[in-house]
Amino acid sequence: MDVHGLTPARQLDVGDIPVGPDLFLLVKNALQRMKQGQLLEVIGSGSHIKHDLQSWCRLNRHTFVMALDGGDHYRFLIRNNPVKELEQPDWGIKLPLRKDGRLDIRDWFEGRVGELREQAPAYVGFVPRGAVAEPGVPDFGFGLNRKDDVWSGNLLDLYEQAKEKQWNASTDIAWNELPALPEEMEWAVCQIMTFLAENEYSALYIPAKFMAQISPHYIEALMYLSTLIQDESRHIEAFTKRALAGGGGLQYSSALTERSLHSLFIQEDYFKSSFLLHVLGEGTFLDLLTFIEEHAPDPVTRQIVALAKIDEGRHVAYGIGHVRHIIECHSGMVQALVDAANERNEYLDAAGAGENSHLMEALAILAGGGRKPEQLKRGFALVRKLKVVMHEHRMQRLLQIGLERDTAETISRTHTPNFM
Ligand SMILES: [Fe+2]
Ligand SMILES: [Fe+2]
Repeated sequence: MDVHGLTPARQLDVGDIPVGPDLFLLVKNALQRMKQGQLLEVIGSGSHIKHDLQSWCRLNRHTFVMALDGGDHYRFLIRNNPVKELEQPDWGIKLPLRKDGRLDIRDWFEGRVGELREQAPAYVGFVPRGAVAEPGVPDFGFGLNRKDDVWSGNLLDLYEQAKEKQWNASTDIAWNELPALPEEMEWAVCQIMTFLAENEYSALYIPAKFMAQISPHYIEALMYLSTLIQDESRHIEAFTKRALAGGGGLQYSSALTERSLHSLFIQEDYFKSSFLLHVLGEGTFLDLLTFIEEHAPDPVTRQIVALAKIDEGRHVAYGIGHVRHIIECHSGMVQALVDAANERNEYLDAAGAGENSHLMEALAILAGGGRKPEQLKRGFALVRKLKVVMHEHRMQRLLQIGLERDTAETISRTHTPNFM
């Protein structure tokens, strides 16, 4: 064959690498990075690889063009005939640093990584957004595969904040400053901690059950939710430790609380779940934490609740941002929120309305300062006031996401007496 006019686009020196998987891997990769029809020149130290290269080319639908004897080496020309050539990956990306040398996640939207689509590509698998995927990635079946499904305008900032505000329930709490409290007050704290921990289990499990459905194309949403999961796990740890640290222990769980949390757990729609959990549930939980912080009988309880409240603020902010964005774009989705609240109420009403009575008593003792009738009277009055504040703040959040006042009023009025 005439070598005149044959110009290799690329050379691959394999030296005396023996015929085997390593050698074929190098040839395959080199060809994959070339355009269709281009020539690859493989330089080897012996002619013995010729037959194996020829067979490999036949199997992989490339054309073995010729072998040339170069004296102390051999040259083999292979024409690249891929079924489909791969896209070109990025090269030369250099992210600009912020003033103090930091590199935030919002800075990485450059080149192919920056191509965030409204609809995630199919067959994306775990291919990082921006990488070049070889054809043949199986369908992983991610159900949450539109940006609107999971995104929120404040997501990237919340992720940075979440990392900065992590705390350690083993070492950041002044456990050695926990005083001995009167028994009824210690009991009240233990009962409240039991209730808080129980609710935190749901706050951990519910987002976690959705995470594996989110397309990796929206990896930032998964990264943010991972911080949220870590927060909830830390809350469970801190609340449980507080119940066990002062001579008491975990107290009563009510079936009503469990039923309320179950009604959240069985919601299979992420948008509805986000609304019920982050906007209504955790929103109301914020007011409960504020109340406990205000009336905490010891610095340890106060510190734990204050730290948890900062974390919960981020969870509520994500929910509000996410739900508000969807309602702004699709006003018809308001009905889904009304339905979500109604479905939940029907489920809860079926078991009869009511409150967690142990929790109510504990909150009254905490706020009233003890178990004497006068204290309880004052305590119950403060708890009633708390419920009014909870309603007012729920209204503010519901108006903030874009609901009409009437709709907001109906949803807030029928919110579960379990708070979460
Ligand atoms: Fe929490
Ligand atoms: Fe939370």
